[in-house]
Formats: sequence, structure tokens, C-alpha cells
Amino acid sequence: MNPEPNKKRTRILNILFILSCLGILAFLLKAPPESTKKIPRDEIHLKFYPLGKKEAEKHCETCHFPEGPSPLPADHPPKYRCLFCHKKQS
Ligand code: HEC
Ligand code: HEC
Repeated sequence: MNPEPNKKRTRILNILFILSCLGILAFLLKAPPESTKKIPRDEIHLKFYPLGKKEAEKHCETCHFPEGPSPLPADHPPKYRCLFCHKKQS
């Protein structure tokens, strides 16, 4: 029995494992910059600023629906938590 080749293989697998962890980490850190439009600070939207996220979101789709005054773009991403992506402006 010669244990050497096996050890070598383990080391290579370990290195591969670490490399793939680094790859995943790099991928997560490379998340796109925050470029999503913020909620306008206008008459319409200012009244939602004092509300909590969940509370405010109940109102968004009274206007932002396909036939509404300000429909979402056709390629809009999944939209179930508006304020996670469209932040309030400070
Ligand atoms: C009373 C109707 C109404 C409600 C309710 C409403 N909006 Fe709007 N929204 C509009 C209109 C009209 C516009 C386009 C004109 C403007 O910028 O105000 C707009 C614009 C926007 C924009 C920016 C679009 C751009 O081109 O910059 C975002 C983001 C947005 N709304 C998000 C939200 C979110 C999130 C909520 C829920 C908290 C919400 N809106 C609730 C009517 C509404
Ligand atoms: C996963 C993230 C995400 C969520 C959740 C989300 N949006 Fe968006 N929204 C975007 C992106 C990205 C765009 C593309 C344009 C941009 O950069 O703002 C967009 C565009 C818009 C626009 C049009 C802005 C323009 O260009 O005129 C409106 C209005 C809007 N979203 C409202 C909403 C509302 C209302 C909700 C909740 C029902 C919501 N969004 C949920 C990411 C999101």
C-alpha cells in the first residue's frame, strides 16, 4: 500500500474546494451596484416615507400595476417586496 497518491489527491480536492468557495464569495460580493431607482420624494410618495416597509408596500400597487398611471416596465424583476429594491431617498 502506498498512501502518498491518496494524500496528494486529498490535497488537490481541498484546494479545489477552497477555490470554489472563493469563487462563490467573489460572485456574491460582485452584486450589481445599487442603481435601482429610489422612491421619488414627491407629493405622491412622501406619504409612504413614515410608514414601515411592509406597511408602505401595501399601497404601491394601487398605482403601479399594468394599467395604472405608472405601470411597471415589462421586464420588471419579481416585485413582491418593493422597498427592498426601491429605497427611500434620504
Ligand atoms: C397614488 C399613486 C401611486 C402610489 C400609491 C405609488 N406610486 Fe410610485 N409613482 C406614481 C407615479 C404617477 C409615478 C411617476 C411620476 C413620479 O415620479 O411621481 C411614480 C413613480 C415611482 C417610481 C420612480 C419611477 C421613475 O421613473 O423614477 C418609483 C421607484 C415608485 N414610483 C415606487 C413606488 C413605491 C415603492 C410605492 C409604494 C410605497 C409607490 N410608488 C406608490 C404613482 C404612485
Ligand atoms: C428585486 C428588486 C425589485 C423589486 C422587489 C421591485 N422592483 Fe421595481 N424595479 C426594479 C428594477 C431593477 C427596475 C428597473 C429600472 C430601475 O433601475 O429602476 C424597476 C423599475 C420600476 C419602476 C419604473 C421605474 C422607471 O424606470 O420609470 C417602477 C415604477 C417600479 N419599479 C415600482 C416597483 C413597485 C411598485 C414594486 C413593488 C410592487 C417594485 N418596483 C418592486 C427592481 C425591483
